[in-house]
Amino acid sequence: SPIEPLLANRHIVITAGPTREEIDPVRFISNHSSGKMGYALAKAAVALGGRVTLVSGPVNLPRPAGVDLIDVVSAEQMHKAVMTAVINPKVSGTQSDSMQLNCDIFIGCAAVADYKPQQKIEQKIKKSDTELTLTFTRNPDILSDVAHLAQPPFTVGFAAETQDVAHYAQDKLKRKKLDMIAANDVSQAGLGFNSEQNALNVYWNNGGKNLGVADKSQLAISLMTLVAQRHALKTI
Ligand code: C5P
Repeated sequence: SPIEPLLANRHIVITAGPTREEIDPVRFISNHSSGKMGYALAKAAVALGGRVTLVSGPVNLPRPAGVDLIDVVSAEQMHKAVMTAVINPKVSGTQSDSMQLNCDIFIGCAAVADYKPQQKIEQKIKKSDTELTLTFTRNPDILSDVAHLAQPPFTVGFAAETQDVAHYAQDKLKRKKLDMIAANDVSQAGLGFNSEQNALNVYWNNGGKNLGVADKSQLAISLMTLVAQRHALKTI
């Protein structure tokens, strides 16, 4: 009999890239992120037979084939796009299905800005000889909000740490109610930010796996396979 692909009939929602928080019409704050890992995960999920929605901040990457790409700029836009993609009913128009989740697996790979300027300044801030003080407020935590839904999808987060990677990853797993967390040590040169290679350590409740150092595309296949397997175990 033909073998079903691992992610057949599964809807996977992935965030990728940075978000940009506008300060005034010509300035913004953002985070380091090329989007390469998230885009590689989207491609891997398509290769494993999944239906993929990729919610992406501003990046310089080609649109991956076979993916439903939603471009956003700010964390608030990303939050709204993710919630819509995750919560929308599977069958539109039927009352009874209105609470049914539209998403089986959510992977938060974006480097979301934790803060945004308190108010949007409509005109360019003029430079002067004095100091400039800006006040920032918290952005929504997209990953945590998805994981805290009444019927959450299988939820995977990323942790970029420079020290005590295992400790912080385990803590984040519990605090954000995640099913799995992929931790990368961004203190190592040539790995992580803007590079082709990454090193991933994956943790879940009472378990884990070291996926080693590899190209982001190879790591994405290993991680998506692991996610599909752990998700299948959870849904039995
Ligand atoms: O707590 P920290 O921001 O380090 O957690 C990182 C993880 O949380 C990543 O998976 C990132 O995509 C997600 N995140 C998010 N929304 C935020 C901040 C982080 O989804 N506002």
